[in-house]
Amino acid sequence: MSLRITVIGTGYLGATHAAAMAELGFEVLGLDVVKEKVELLSAGRVPMYEPGLEELLRTHVAGVEGATGRLRFTTDWDEVAAFGDVHFVCVNTPQKHGEYGCDMSYNAGVDAAIDTLAPRLDRPCLVVGKSTVPVGSAARLARRLAELAPAGEEAELAWNPEFLREGFAVEDTLRPDRIVVGVASERAEELLREVYAGPVGDGTPFVVADYPTAELVKTAANSFLATKISFINAMAEICEAAGGDVVKLAEAIGYDDRIGKKFLRAGIGFGGGCLPKDIRAFMARAGELGVDQALTFLREVDSINMRRRAHMVELAREACGGTFLGRRIAVLGAAFKPDSDDVRDSPALNVAGQIHLQGGQVTVYDPKGMDNARREFPTLRYADSAEDAAGSADVVLHLTEWSEFRNLDPRRLARAVATAHLIDGRNTLDPAPWRAAGWTFRAIGRPAL
Ligand code: UDX
Repeated sequence: MSLRITVIGTGYLGATHAAAMAELGFEVLGLDVVKEKVELLSAGRVPMYEPGLEELLRTHVAGVEGATGRLRFTTDWDEVAAFGDVHFVCVNTPQKHGEYGCDMSYNAGVDAAIDTLAPRLDRPCLVVGKSTVPVGSAARLARRLAELAPAGEEAELAWNPEFLREGFAVEDTLRPDRIVVGVASERAEELLREVYAGPVGDGTPFVVADYPTAELVKTAANSFLATKISFINAMAEICEAAGGDVVKLAEAIGYDDRIGKKFLRAGIGFGGGCLPKDIRAFMARAGELGVDQALTFLREVDSINMRRRAHMVELAREACGGTFLGRRIAVLGAAFKPDSDDVRDSPALNVAGQIHLQGGQVTVYDPKGMDNARREFPTLRYADSAEDAAGSADVVLHLTEWSEFRNLDPRRLARAVATAHLIDGRNTLDPAPWRAAGWTFRAIGRPAL
């Protein structure tokens, strides 16, 4: 009989993983502690914007017309324990308030999930952690599971980090570039090979490791990506001082395939629910392990990144003639990246908020992130389109690189603004048509003219 899968926690990671497991042919039961979320998902609706996810969900959710019915959601832990052969733990692991470390005791966090699930596990099963956790957590949670589960050794733990990107969550989950599992037994490895037989059969590498290595793969990968972005942003600082062009520089070094072109886009830096918190939690954990020196460079990566936001504010102030007082600033973009409505630690909103606090009249437009932005920064103004946001603006800031903004007509927008001054904080707009339409065009790390 085919394995029965449960997914605990239905955020970006969990909702996508649950739908993907149903797509791979398994019977899936998703659990969330938030009743409203379970109701929404059960009706085939996704509480966030993620391309393709709602469609995938609706293909499988029981009760939706024409669906396979392989996917259901519940708030009931007993049902989950009785149902699953493999339980994926996908709850989030936020940063501790006011500290760098990761808060594992968060009410719906990994520890709480294991403590609630384990006492109900009375038959053989595998509990698989997918959340990003400090190294050492899996070993500790495995001991906890052994202590609490009536099934004893028959209820085992594995770690299987997730590398999905928001905006590509479905694609990354169905066709990952690698699957990494941290296991303590052959049985656990075999079960996970069975779960992932589809993608592995299609050629996805399957990397088997011990717990700490599997946990570290995730934080190491995110640290590397963050370092790459801060590296190019450091080059942008140098380019600005020396009159160079960081976009050209990135292109030229990117032809070396040891370096590669990806993640070398200079701008206002990285944000979101993962990279900033993960590098901080990683530093905190290295400190606990007595090897903080190994990661002091991540402090620099973090401060280069945060400096980008401040730099953007300064460029905007300069464009406004040295003060924000009485000036209108149009902000294009609120999400931390395009194709997402996620505004967690969004560089765009951070810049918008700083300018607002310094007296500027900021109007924000984002294709998908407006509701979340309004909730986070209710005091900013919001417009229904890029053109509305730009109305009578003294400067327009391009802060999230939605394709919609690349398709703007510079001539048309020039008629809406008070002063045709644009600053590209993401280096994805082509300066030529903007300048041809009479705009003063500036971009981070590129020559002013
Ligand atoms: C990241 C990792 O990519 C993913 O593998 C992991 O599972 C979760 O964290 P995500 O948070 O979705 O994914 O965003 P990502 O695409 O990595 O972008 C992060 C931030 O970096 C965004 O704010 C983006 O705008 C910025 N970025 C990215 C740059 O500033 N320059 C670049 O060249 C690339």
